[in-house]
Amino acid sequence: MSYIEAQYPAEKPAFYQMLKEQLALYMADAPNLTAALANFSAVIVQAFPNANWAGFYLVDGDELAVGPFQGRPAVSRIGFGKGVCGTAWKEDKAQVVEEVSCFAGHIACDCNTHSEIVVPLRRADGTIWGVLDMDSVLPGHFTEEDRVGLEECVKLLPAPN
Ligand code: SME
Repeated sequence: MSYIEAQYPAEKPAFYQMLKEQLALYMADAPNLTAALANFSAVIVQAFPNANWAGFYLVDGDELAVGPFQGRPAVSRIGFGKGVCGTAWKEDKAQVVEEVSCFAGHIACDCNTHSEIVVPLRRADGTIWGVLDMDSVLPGHFTEEDRVGLEECVKLLPAPN
């Protein structure tokens, strides 16, 4: 499937409606999980012009391992409870960080990052199989509306067993 140019509305409900429609097209077309994760990260980095990193960390034993992403090279492994990603996994809930320098234990991958959102990826039974991580060059870029919107978006991903 070729790239579909989307003009995202500024208003959040309409923005997330369009984002979910865009993602659904690519998810329906994805032949496997890697393809789904790769195009998901590409779609959201297009939708958030101030995002400097968007992608996935996937549960791999007692760590998270980096998965498909868009952005600068990133740390490969994150321990349970470490950084923002490992905290989302340990606390079993999304993290919205207004200023990463104020988050104790934040793992810096790009010194231009100011804010970050991490949303767990869940199986039907609620267990976590990975996290979506997105960074922004703007402080306070992600809101509760983004948490709710992105939690809806990640439900479009095909969860592995
Ligand atoms: N900041 C993350 C690490 C991954 S990079 O942002 C891509 C964290 O603290 O878990």
